[in-house]
Amino acid sequence: MTYIVNQNCVNCRYTDCVEVCPVDCFYIGENTIVIHPDECIDCGVCEPECPAEAIVPDTYMDTDLEYWLEKNRKYSLIWPNITQKLEALPDADAVNPAMGYTEDKTAQFSEESGPQE
Ligand code: SF4
Ligand code: F3S
Repeated sequence: MTYIVNQNCVNCRYTDCVEVCPVDCFYIGENTIVIHPDECIDCGVCEPECPAEAIVPDTYMDTDLEYWLEKNRKYSLIWPNITQKLEALPDADAVNPAMGYTEDKTAQFSEESGPQE
């Protein structure tokens, strides 16, 4: 089992999650973040920290769960590790599904790396 980050993070990237992870298994992209599924120890402490409700366990019954699990697996091997919080992306609150944004953000996922610490 692992936790994963889904499309809710795209263009928000608040990074509150990275500071609480006991095993530092978050990896940062240009406009989102992912969890390394083999490093995550399923502690669950990051889930309530996300203002966009973007972190879910892989047991969560969602139609796009497998899609995002593969995204997390693939990009956690490519992007840099992140352990310290950054500024949220500029439009974070405006495109936050937990604040009422309803568009699907899947197609806006960027494959580019985020900043190195
Ligand atoms: Fe890290 Fe725990 Fe979240 Fe997994 S569930 S990413 S180990 S804080
Ligand atoms: Fe993304 Fe939520 Fe972390 S928006 S960067 S999963 S705090």
